[in-house]
Amino acid sequence: MKTVRELVNSKSLTKISMITCYDYSTAKIIKDTDIDIVLVGDSLGMVIYGYPSTLQVEMEQMVFHTEAVYRGLEGQKLLVSDLPFLSYQASTRDAVFNAGRLLKAGANIVKLEGGRRVIDKVRAIVDADIPVMGHLGLTPQSINVTGGYKLQAVDEESIENLFEDAFALQNEGVVALVLELVPEEVAKKLTEELSIPTIGIGSGRFCDGQVLVINDMLGWFKDFSPKHTKKYANLSEVIFSSVNEYVSDVKNGTFPGEGNVFHLKKEVDFEKIIRKFKVS
Ligand code: KIV
Repeated sequence: MKTVRELVNSKSLTKISMITCYDYSTAKIIKDTDIDIVLVGDSLGMVIYGYPSTLQVEMEQMVFHTEAVYRGLEGQKLLVSDLPFLSYQASTRDAVFNAGRLLKAGANIVKLEGGRRVIDKVRAIVDADIPVMGHLGLTPQSINVTGGYKLQAVDEESIENLFEDAFALQNEGVVALVLELVPEEVAKKLTEELSIPTIGIGSGRFCDGQVLVINDMLGWFKDFSPKHTKKYANLSEVIFSSVNEYVSDVKNGTFPGEGNVFHLKKEVDFEKIIRKFKVS
């Protein structure tokens, strides 16, 4: 498993790969892959719970899913877990307490959204010896002020703000920075200027690493494939046709087959019991 220190030191040495994961069964598979980092993202609100945004996600859900993924990974992967909306914004006490809960659930690092406006929370969590990953650019927990899921840092003022936020986070000791939906040129320059690794999603080719939502890259949703994602599989089709094949097997009697059934041992006198219960 990569350690937090190795993650920080890997900048410019090797590209960092990160993927989201929300459940035990998937984590069991991911454990044996080459992925560097696993993220229990608050995107679970949308992909697992069907919420309209990440704003509805509760701390308890993040704890339960972090525990499940941790059990599946068996300590083989560096695990990052998201602090959900309202778990850190209201006070530094909330921030430290909830970050600690994620660590107790198995996370090695907590991730939170925002820069200078949450810097006191970042400082408090880092002071409690809990590693923090930052998240700038599109920050879905601020969707009501940023105005939708769209490209960020597109004008001079917002680019300047992004740089200020990134350096403020680095100064407070965050171990890495997720850059979501930022123009490639901006992410490239920021990556060159920062000493901590950047991990991009929809932010071009020059970040130190990449992160994808597992459901997107596996093609879980038939009608949803964001431009920044590459589809490595077509699971929606696999699931759809497998379920229909099963239904057809049940209807035409080919499932269960002889290989799927259990028989009585020869020594059991089943006939005797039948005779006993036979209504004459
Ligand atoms: O919640 C999430 O999945 C994330 C990634 C998009 C980086 O924060």
